[in-house]
Amino acid sequence: MATGLPQLHHVLLLLLSLLCCCRRLRAIQMAPTAASAAAGGPDDEAASALLELLQRVQTEALRALGPDGFDPKLYVDLPLATDERTAAAALPPPPSTSRAELESYLARYFGEAGSDLVEADPPDFQPEPRGFLPRVGSPEARAWALEVHALWKDLARRVAPDVAARPERHTLLPLPGRVVVPGSRFREVYYWDSYWVVRGLLVSKMFETAKDIALNLVYMVEKYGFVLNGARSYYTNRSQPPLLSSMVLDVYGATGDVDFVRRAFPSLLKEHSFWMSEIHNVAIRDNNGQVRNLSRYQARWNKPRPESATIDEELASKINSIADKEKLYREIASTAESGWDFSSRWMRNSTDMTTLATSYIIPVDLNTFIFKMERDIAAFAKLLGENATSEKFLKASKARHIAIDSILWNSEMEQWLDYWLPTDGDCQKEGVYQWKSDSQNRNIFASNFIPLWLNAHHSGSVQFADAAKSKRVMASLRTSGLLHAAGIATSLTNTSQQWDFPNGWAPVQHLIVEGLLHSGSEEAVKLAEDISTRWVRTNYAAYKATGAMHEKYDVEACGKSGGGGEYKPQTGFGWSNGVVLSFLEEFGWPEHKEIGCSRRGEVDLAGA
Ligand SMILES: *[C@@H]1O[C@H](CO)[C@@H](O)[C@H](O)[C@H]1NC(C)=O
Ligand SMILES: *[C@@H]1O[C@H](CO)[C@@H](O)[C@H](O)[C@H]1NC(C)=O
Ligand SMILES: *[C@@H]1O[C@H](CO)[C@@H](O)[C@H](O)[C@H]1NC(C)=O
Ligand SMILES: *[C@@H]1O[C@H](CO)[C@@H](O)[C@H](O)[C@H]1NC(C)=O
Ligand SMILES: *[C@@H]1O[C@H](CO)[C@@H](O)[C@H](O)[C@H]1NC(C)=O
Repeated sequence: MATGLPQLHHVLLLLLSLLCCCRRLRAIQMAPTAASAAAGGPDDEAASALLELLQRVQTEALRALGPDGFDPKLYVDLPLATDERTAAAALPPPPSTSRAELESYLARYFGEAGSDLVEADPPDFQPEPRGFLPRVGSPEARAWALEVHALWKDLARRVAPDVAARPERHTLLPLPGRVVVPGSRFREVYYWDSYWVVRGLLVSKMFETAKDIALNLVYMVEKYGFVLNGARSYYTNRSQPPLLSSMVLDVYGATGDVDFVRRAFPSLLKEHSFWMSEIHNVAIRDNNGQVRNLSRYQARWNKPRPESATIDEELASKINSIADKEKLYREIASTAESGWDFSSRWMRNSTDMTTLATSYIIPVDLNTFIFKMERDIAAFAKLLGENATSEKFLKASKARHIAIDSILWNSEMEQWLDYWLPTDGDCQKEGVYQWKSDSQNRNIFASNFIPLWLNAHHSGSVQFADAAKSKRVMASLRTSGLLHAAGIATSLTNTSQQWDFPNGWAPVQHLIVEGLLHSGSEEAVKLAEDISTRWVRTNYAAYKATGAMHEKYDVEACGKSGGGGEYKPQTGFGWSNGVVLSFLEEFGWPEHKEIGCSRRGEVDLAGA
C-alpha cells in the first residue's frame, strides 16, 4: 500500500502545528492572469449559462437512465440546436423524467455530441508517404504501421463553422486550424496528448497538420494566457503537462520553418509565466540553506468538473463542510491538470479519493517539462536573435536543474521523487518552505524516471544526468518492479485507478525510452529497445484482437488493453498511435523479427 509517507506526514504535521504558527496555504489566493482579464464578458456569461444547463441535463439523465454505462461527459458535449433559454425552459421537470421523455427532449433541442466537429481529410495525408519508416522491413509490421498511419484520417477533424458563428451554443471552442483528437469520448483536442500526436504526424510526414495542431494551442495561449487542458469551455481553468515548446521544437527540427517558431515564440514566453505564477510556484529552502523555486499543478477551480460533475458530487457527498468540498474539487481539477487522473501518486490514502492532495505536491514530471520548456525557449530565442532572452532562459533552466537535483533527487534510491508540502497548515517563513528528506514520496512511480528524457534533448550542451548517474538510474529502474512483460507500469500499487498498476501508458513509455536511448551506454540503448519492442508488440496484438488502438494497456501480459478509472476504456487513439510510429521510426523492425506476442529475442528486463 502507498500509505507510508502520508502517515508520517500526519505525525509531522501534528508536531509542526504545535511548534509553529501555521497559516493557511497561500495557494488559495489566486493572482489574476490574462484569463481573468478576459473573464466576465457576455461570451463568458453565455458559456456559463450553457454549462449550467448541460449539467442539469446531465443530472436528469443520470436519474432517468441510471448509473449503468453512464458517461457524464456526453451531456456537456451536446451542442444546442436552439437557443439556450428555449432549451432550458423545455427541460422536463425533475424528478420523474422517463427515459423516453429525456431522449425526445435531447433529440429536439440538441445535436449529437461530437457533431460540432466535422471530418476533414488532412490534405497532407498520403496512404504511403515517401520515406515512411525506412527501417521497418517486416511485412506484417509495415502493413500494420500503415494502418496505424491511416488512423490519422479517422481522427482528423475541423471545427464546424457554427462554433465560431454561434459560440453560445457550443462548449467546444473554435480552434482555427485542423485538429486531431485522441478518439472515442475524447472528441476534442487535448493538450499533452497533442505532443505524441505531433510526434506521430512527423513520422507520417504530415508536417502541415502537425503545425496546425501546435498553432491551435498557440491560439489558446493568446486567448486564455495558457494552454487549456482541452478545447472546451469547461476546461478553461486548468492546463495539462506543458509540452507546447516540445511540439514547436520537433516541428522545427523536421521542417526548419523559422517563421513557425517566430509565430509561436511569444506564446511560449506567456505560457512560461503562467507556470511561474503564484498558483504554480513553490519556493523551498534546501539542505544547504539555498532557496529553490519549483512548480506544482493547481487548477483555479473549486466546483465539480462539469464533464464529471455527477461523479465528483457523489465523492464530495462524503464531506460535510462547503469549504472542504471546495478544497476537494480544487484537488480533483488539479489532478486533471497533472494528466495523471487519477493515481495513488496524488493521494494521502491510496484507497480514499477524498485525500487527493495534488496541489501540495512538487511533481518530478512537471518540473522536467518546465526545465525542457526553458531550454527550448533559450534555443528559440537564440535562433530569433534575442540573445538576452536566450541567456535569461538558459539561466532559469540551470536554476531549475539545481532545484530538481536538490529537492527531488534521492541518492539512496537513485531516482527523482515527488516532494510533499505540508497539507494542513503552512509553516513557511516568508513564503518559503523548509526541505525535509522524509517529505520525498518514496513510493515508486514511472514518473520518478522521467527526467531521463532530458538526456535526449540537450541540444549540444551538457546532459541532464551524466553517463554515470544515468547508469545508476537505469539500474534502479531495472530493480524498481515497474518493468513488465508488456512495458513500464505506472506504479506498483493496484488501486483500480487508471494511472496505477497494472496500466502502462504510451507517453510514459516514450519519455523513458527516449531518455534511456540517449543516456550514453550500450546497455541503456538495449533496454530502451527492449521496452519499445514489448510495447509495440502489445499494441500490435491488442490491435489484431480488437481492431483498435487503445488509450492504455495492461503491462502484465502482451496484448492486454488497460482498465480501471472513472470511464470505460477508450480506443482511437492519438498518443498510442504516435508512440508506436515513433518507436518504429527510431528502432526499425527487421524483416524476421516477430511482431506478435512472443518472447524470442528479448533481453531479460530485470536482469543485469
Ligand atoms: C522564487 O519564489 C519566491 C517566492 O514565491 C519569489 O519571491 C521569487 O521571486 C522566486 N524566484 C525566482 C527566481 O523566480
Ligand atoms: C475560473 O477562472 C476565472 C479567472 O481566473 C475565475 O474568474 C473563475 O472564478 C474561475 N472559476 C472557478 C469555478 O473557480
Ligand atoms: C484509507 O481509506 C480507507 C477507505 O477509505 C480506510 O478504511 C482506511 O482506514 C484509510 N487508511 C488510513 C491509514 O487512514
Ligand atoms: C547574438 O549572438 C550571436 C552569437 O551567439 C551573435 O552572432 C549575434 O550578433 C548576437 N545578436 C545580437 C543582437 O547581439
Ligand atoms: C486490481 O484491482 C481490481 C479491483 O480490486 C481487480 O478487479 C483487478 O483484478 C486487480 N488487478 C490486478 C492485476 O491485480
